[in-house]
Amino acid sequence: MASTTLLCAFFLALLSCSRSERLEEPSTSDMQYTCNQIAAAISSASQVFFPPATEYLFDIEHYSYSNTEASACSVEPGSAADLSEILRVLGSSRTPFAVKGGGHGVNPGFSSTSGVEIAMSRFNETHVNSTCGTVEVGAGLTWDEVYATLGPTGVNLVGARAPGVGVAGSALGGGYSYLSNQYGLMVDNVIRYELVLPNGTVTNVTSNDDDLWFGLKGGLNNFGIVTKFIFQSHPQGGIWGGFRLHAENQLDAIKDALVKFQQKNDTKAAIDVVLSYSSGQLSIAVLFFYDEPTSSGVFDDFLAIPAIEANVSTTTFSDFIQLLGPLVAANGLRVLFEGAPVTQYSPAVFDAFANQTKLWGARLSALDKNATVSSTLEPFDNGFFSFGSGSAFPPDRSQAVFPSVVTVKWSNASLEEVMAFALRNISDTIRAAALADGQNVAHAAVYPNNALFGTPLEDMYGGNVERLRQIRAAIDPEDVMGLTGGWRF
Ligand SMILES: Cc1cc2nc3c(=O)[nH]c(=O)nc-3n(C[C@H](O)[C@H](O)[C@H](O)COP(=O)(O)OP(=O)(O)OC[C@H]3O[C@@H](n4cnc5c(N)ncnc54)[C@H](O)[C@@H]3O)c2cc1C
Ligand SMILES: *[C@@H]1O[C@H](CO)[C@@H](O)[C@H](O)[C@H]1NC(C)=O
Ligand SMILES: *[C@@H]1O[C@H](CO)[C@@H](O)[C@H](O)[C@H]1NC(C)=O
Ligand SMILES: *[C@@H]1O[C@H](CO)[C@@H](O)[C@H](O)[C@H]1NC(C)=O
Ligand SMILES: *[C@@H]1O[C@H](CO)[C@@H](O)[C@H](O)[C@H]1NC(C)=O
Ligand SMILES: *[C@@H]1O[C@H](CO)[C@@H](O)[C@H](O)[C@H]1NC(C)=O
Ligand SMILES: *[C@@H]1O[C@H](CO)[C@@H](O)[C@H](O)[C@H]1NC(C)=O
Ligand SMILES: *[C@@H]1O[C@H](CO)[C@@H](O)[C@H](O)[C@H]1NC(C)=O
Ligand SMILES: *[C@@H]1O[C@H](CO)[C@@H](O)[C@H](O)[C@H]1NC(C)=O
Ligand SMILES: *[C@@H]1O[C@H](CO)[C@@H](O)[C@H](O)[C@H]1NC(C)=O
Ligand SMILES: *[C@@H]1O[C@H](CO)[C@@H](O)[C@H](O)[C@H]1NC(C)=O
Repeated sequence: MASTTLLCAFFLALLSCSRSERLEEPSTSDMQYTCNQIAAAISSASQVFFPPATEYLFDIEHYSYSNTEASACSVEPGSAADLSEILRVLGSSRTPFAVKGGGHGVNPGFSSTSGVEIAMSRFNETHVNSTCGTVEVGAGLTWDEVYATLGPTGVNLVGARAPGVGVAGSALGGGYSYLSNQYGLMVDNVIRYELVLPNGTVTNVTSNDDDLWFGLKGGLNNFGIVTKFIFQSHPQGGIWGGFRLHAENQLDAIKDALVKFQQKNDTKAAIDVVLSYSSGQLSIAVLFFYDEPTSSGVFDDFLAIPAIEANVSTTTFSDFIQLLGPLVAANGLRVLFEGAPVTQYSPAVFDAFANQTKLWGARLSALDKNATVSSTLEPFDNGFFSFGSGSAFPPDRSQAVFPSVVTVKWSNASLEEVMAFALRNISDTIRAAALADGQNVAHAAVYPNNALFGTPLEDMYGGNVERLRQIRAAIDPEDVMGLTGGWRF
């Protein structure tokens, strides 16, 4: 009975929650008209698709079922010039649209729409410029595709830690990598963007462009649509990495190993500790990365803990990332995230993550037996914010903040607000625990790519919000990007 009372308490709290990012929809016939207008405006490099074409189904597919919608049509632009025409048609007809890179954004409507889905998949080229030490990457690629292409070249980029994640969304939101301890965030490694502005003008954005350069480094889809990124590259040899899985009885041993690991300051080493609750059990996955073919001993405390299953070895960067695929698969479920930024995984903060994962895991499993709650603890080096400056995100680089992501996966469509409530409650509880632990996290920014829908801009962009609003007002006076979902300045 006690648990019934508790559930009622949080259902009541839900009445005050609502999603503000959803857009108004024009009529179906208006949208068909717009789709045909687009088809007439683009060159043969691009194409419009309608349901039930295979290409259409591919274009609207996303990682999370909660960010998947049937659009009126999809369009695959094949050139920046065509994308420019597409934006002009959408802007003048005021048609809602979505921009999909890797489709790994999870918030409803952030890269899905009932209007026109722009799938960036044809921007799929990777060009290494060894003279300059740069790599040009098309905005339709996923990081695993880029790693596979770069494998034989001996260079690599600061990119995402799991297969399927888009270059575009991750790099435009900030971008945490296994290489961030050595080279910073993805935004710190961009040399140039090719951008289609909201009014359709195609332009290059570099460090010479004060405002757009600042805005694109964390500001996602506020300033137009990026077609290409030119990144700084870094040498890449063989690596050592993989994962190990443990049962709940190793929780304390994992906590001790994690606490000690954070004192070691070895910038070639990276780990993620994932605590997951599903089907009545807590399990632990530890993901290891060392940027040399053999590890230095920095992980010895972890490796001494008995594992249920393990696959860690000397391998290539690309194969290592592929190996992690099954650990992060959405399996057709709905997925939502929330960030829980901390500056240290101290024993008290670790306990709070474990407690919340179990507590909410059990509560949510009672409502949907397919529910999983997981917390990803991701320590970085204390100096990892020092590789860049002047970016929309992170708004404050004066101390290292570990983003942390809490994830819920579930089946039942009616439970979306319950899941959102749980995520906010977990995140708030973690922040309170970190504050009680003496961490300076009262205003620690939530990573925009981890933040749950409804998060106030100030919580992600801090003191940058006003400048970002001004930049957007100047760049997008007609509010064309207001026709798509996502965080809006
Ligand atoms: C399994 C998993 C692992 C992850 N691992 C990492 C990680 O290691 N590091 C990390 O930093 N993040 C990680 N993330 C978070 C990730 O950065 C976000 O989910 C990000 O939004 C994914 O980008 P995408 O292109 O795949 O998504 P999409 O859903 O396609 O796009 C996300 C947002 O970016 C906008 N966008 C996409 N393309 C463009 C473009 N060309 N121009 C302008 N706007 C565009 C979209 O409109 C949307 O608002 C992970 C997420 C998942 C699900
Ligand atoms: C890139 O996209 C084009 C156009 O869709 C396609 O023909 C080509 O095969 C793709 N290239 C790669 C490497 O996937
Ligand atoms: C590499 O970049 C430099 C500087 O932008 C340019 O001059 C050169 O032509 C590029 N090389 C290739 C192979 O693209
Ligand atoms: C962007 O810069 C590249 C390299 O300097 C150049 O080839 C390209 O034409 C530029 N694009 C625009 C739209 O100015
Ligand atoms: C690691 O860095 C922290 C903070 O900068 C410092 O307190 C600690 O002594 C360092 N540890 C080692 C082993 O160098
Ligand atoms: C480890 O992963 C590799 C793929 O990278 C796979 O071939 C191998 O079978 C796995 N080994 C175990 C023991 O799971
Ligand atoms: C979580 O913490 C609360 C309060 O500190 C405690 O009552 C509860 O038993 C803990 N739950 C779990 C699953 O550890
Ligand atoms: C759980 O998932 C299974 C398999 O996908 C599905 O058949 C079932 O309906 C789901 N359960 C709930 C409660 O939605
Ligand atoms: C989904 O959740 C709603 C609200 O809790 C509930 O009424 C409904 O029975 C659930 N559906 C399934 C298939 O479990
Ligand atoms: C979390 O939700 C519970 C109700 O389930 C409530 O009592 C508690 O105050 C909430 N905690 C935070 C930090 O919001
Ligand atoms: C498009 O927007 C850019 C950036 O605000 C501006 O410089 C340019 O003049 C605009 N072009 C047109 C044709 O309005």
